[in-house]
This record gives sequence, C-alpha cells and structure tokens, in this order.
Amino acid sequence: MRTIKVSLEKRFPNGWIDRMTALNTVLKSDTEIDYNVSAIRADFPALDLKINGHPLAFLDSGASAQKPVQVLDRMDHAYRSEYANVHRGAYTLSQLATDNYENARMTVANFMNAKTPDEVIFTRNGTAAINLVAYSYGRTFLRAGDEIIISHMEHHANIVPWQLLRDAIGVEIKIAPIDDHGNFLMDEFEKLLCPKTKLVAVTHVSNVLGTILPIKEIVRQAHNIGAHVLIDGCQGIVHDGVDVQDLDAEFYAFTGHKLYGPSGIGVLWGKLDLLNKMPPYEGGGDMIENVTFEKTTYREAPARFEAGTPPIIEAVGLATAIDYVTGVGLENIANYETKLLTYATNHLAEIDGLRIIGRADNKAPIISFELDGVHAHDIGTIIDSKGVAVRAGHHCAQPLMDRYGLVATARASLGMYNNTDDIDQLVDALNYVKDIFG
Ligand code: ALA
Repeated sequence: MRTIKVSLEKRFPNGWIDRMTALNTVLKSDTEIDYNVSAIRADFPALDLKINGHPLAFLDSGASAQKPVQVLDRMDHAYRSEYANVHRGAYTLSQLATDNYENARMTVANFMNAKTPDEVIFTRNGTAAINLVAYSYGRTFLRAGDEIIISHMEHHANIVPWQLLRDAIGVEIKIAPIDDHGNFLMDEFEKLLCPKTKLVAVTHVSNVLGTILPIKEIVRQAHNIGAHVLIDGCQGIVHDGVDVQDLDAEFYAFTGHKLYGPSGIGVLWGKLDLLNKMPPYEGGGDMIENVTFEKTTYREAPARFEAGTPPIIEAVGLATAIDYVTGVGLENIANYETKLLTYATNHLAEIDGLRIIGRADNKAPIISFELDGVHAHDIGTIIDSKGVAVRAGHHCAQPLMDRYGLVATARASLGMYNNTDDIDQLVDALNYVKDIFG
C-alpha cells in the first residue's frame, strides 16, 4: 500500500493548513501503535453525540462514514464564498468554482495514482459509476453469449446492473464461488475464465464479510484471456487504498461518503482510451462539443460522462476528505484498523451464541455476526438503546446471505475514528441483548 503525499497547501485556504499540520504532529500516540485516535475523534463532531442517553458508538462506517470538521468547514466555506456553477461563466466566482472542481479531480487522480485527471469521472455515487459502465461499455463492447464473471459476495450494485444488461442484450453472468470463511476461491475463478469471458466485475472488499479480494491476481488472470476488469472499490479504497496503474484494471468505481467525504458524489476511474471509445450514458449540457437538431458531437472524457450541473461542492468536500486521510496516512489507518479488528473479533468471539460470518484470511474491519435466537433487526434496535449503531439486514447482498443460509446479519464496520471503548460498548450491549432474550 502506498501513502500518497499531497500538497495540502493547495487544498486549504490560510488557516486550515494549520489544523492539518496540528493533526499530523499529534500522530505520535498514546496507543501502542503510531496513531492518535483521540486526536482524530476530536475532528468528528458526530462522535460527541449522545444517543438514547449513551455516548454514540458509531460502528456503521461501511454504510456511510462520519465527516471530519475539515470537510464540513471546507464545504461551508465553498458554499458561502466560492459558489457558482462550473464551466459556464466568464466571471471570477465561476472561474473559482471551476478551479476548485477541477483541482478536486486532480486530488482524486493523485490519490488513485491515475495517469491523468481526465480518467476521473465524477458520478452521483458508486452505484452510478457501475451503472455507467454496464450501460455505456456493456452495450458497446459486449454481445449476446459473452460472459461476465462476478463473485458470490457482490453488493446488489455490482449484480443488478449486469442483470439489466443481460436482459437487454443477452450476456451471461457466471458466479465465482467463495468458501465458508468468505475467501475468494482463485482456482474456481480460473476455471470459469474462458474465451467467452469478456468482463470480470468484482468487489475489492466485501461489504458483509470484510474479505479483501486478491484483485491484482484477478486482473492478471482476466487479462491473460483478454477480458476487461471492473473493481467495485466502495469499501476497498477506504481500507486498502488503490494504485490504479499498478492494479491495471480497466475500471475502478467508488463512492465519496464512505471515505469521510459527502454523499452525492462517486468516482468512476477508467483507462482513458477505453473511456473515449464509450458513448455517453446521459445526455445534456456540458458533455457536448456541438449540438444541432440533426447531429450532436461529444466531448472527450471526463466531460462526456458528466452531463448537467455536477456535484460541485461535493467534489470539494471529497478532495478535502482525501487530504484528511492522506494527511493521517492510509497505511497508518489500515494498521490501526487491523489491530482494532483483532480486538473486536476476539471480544465478540467470547460472547456465547455469537457467530461471526466471514473469517477470511485477509480482512478489512467489517464484522458480520448473528446471535442465537435473536433476529438481526432486534439486535440493532436493542443495542441502539445503548448508543451503539450497527447495520442489520441483508446489506444489499441477498445472494451472499443465501450462500450462508441467512436472511440477515448484524454488522459492525469500523472506521478510522473507532476505538476500543466503542468495541467494549458493543460487547456490553450485546450481553444486554442476551439478558433480554434469556
Ligand atoms: N453499501 C453500503 C453498506 O454496505 C450501504 O452498508
């Protein structure tokens, strides 16, 4: 994993840089690893909330992460003093907004190690990024009888777009299996690869099991038979980062709100020559070169895929979130989260009747579990009364639930700001659930 250096000065108007510098100097820590979680927690206002009379133990960052004050302040400032539509006005404020928006694209490109910011398309969210590929790439490059391989642990966002494509043009979908622990079975995947395989679309990290997939090896194997690869990085980029040049997939999709940025913005990264061979997905303003009633010509990527007014301030917020996590260091965060995952796994495993779903060898800090005789929704509701926030349900991964014979699990997903107190509060709350259910 790389720790990416960015120029914070470019991102932060005078004054805010000081806050980031201060953050970095307190990273020498009071914990056994080089990470001061207390300083980080102080940047996240939501973590001060009391829920039902208890301190909030926020363990649902896999659904959406809380936002640091740096992101909130930066967006507030941009709305108050730097706001206009982008790419449209010759006036100063519009130029400033445009510069901010395009600088945000540059920040994302640096973060992913893209060759050029033109490879970075801003979308509404991760789902929209995958749908863009399924529609534009899928209907241009795939034909009836071609095969798409997805894994058994995909989120619905990386299943349903391909089913829509299947129903429209007749491609086939093959499922790469997993073992009972949630490991991706590379040998079985290789058996599915054949000349008919044209696309492999898999997640980087399972949102239910936490499994980190061997995406680099998946790309290598897929390329060996000439298939293209899309990686759903919504969970993965947060915990594992990505270097798209090293990975060498054709597409990588992620969302901003799980990366401590705002909702309403996602990213599709794609190889530029491929993007420029794909037709627009949506039509409208800003994506055209020239329009007449007879014929319209389109701009190159990324503009051709950004019809209409884009998520202007959300892009600024996402760039600030990226500056925040890179300021702390993705590797520092990942090391810390891995230790916290071990702590949580060990303590949860001590609870009688609790079963963790997903014990893959290589795991991000996501822990799904069930408790004997208690529905996941009841777990969620009861521990909420103790201030603990987890997701309960099928997690938009119903085929995966079927694989384990479940309808739902409870899921604790950790972020850069969680600490052992949060885990202890979860364990106490689960023991309280057990008391209630006898
Ligand atoms: N995809 C998000 C989750 O896993 C919403 O909770």
